[in-house]
Amino acid sequence: MSAIHPPARRLWWKQPLDRVEGTWIAIAFVWCLFMFFMMPYWHVFGKQNLSNEAYRTAPEAYSKKAQAMVDKYTVRTESDQKIPVVHPPAGSDVYLVARLWSWWPILELEKGKSYRLHLSAMDYMHGFSLQPANINLQVIPGYEMVVNVTPNQDGAFSIVCNEYCGIGHHTMVSRLYVVNK
Ligand code: CUA
Repeated sequence: MSAIHPPARRLWWKQPLDRVEGTWIAIAFVWCLFMFFMMPYWHVFGKQNLSNEAYRTAPEAYSKKAQAMVDKYTVRTESDQKIPVVHPPAGSDVYLVARLWSWWPILELEKGKSYRLHLSAMDYMHGFSLQPANINLQVIPGYEMVVNVTPNQDGAFSIVCNEYCGIGHHTMVSRLYVVNK
């Protein structure tokens, strides 16, 4: 058989299933089922998974909320770009804006206090990766992700973008501070 000549037998594909082939199909099927049920299992029993909420939003509406928080709770600025460092009250809603190629503002949270951390992107998809805690979330324009966080360690954490978002992707880094009060 070739692409030009038709096969000699018209139903060339109608062969009985080989034992080895059947075995591999069975193995693949069982593995698929295993992986499928691992998803709900790991959501409940895996210690890393966050139960996020997601809401529809628009970049303008989201940045307005972030701006309101920054206007109210900025305690200082950092770097040449004068990035505001924001210390919102414990228990409040805190906003982080992702855009090409920065995170805005820098958040300063208190250890042992709970916050509702909101994340959204202004332009393309970005990835929120908090290191070394290794908490990873997709940040998607038009959607507002909300995560309940209670920092249990103080110090300076790194935020890196872990979704490739263009030529400046590797420069899309920031910080998150957790202070002991
Ligand atoms: Cu933002 Cu990569």
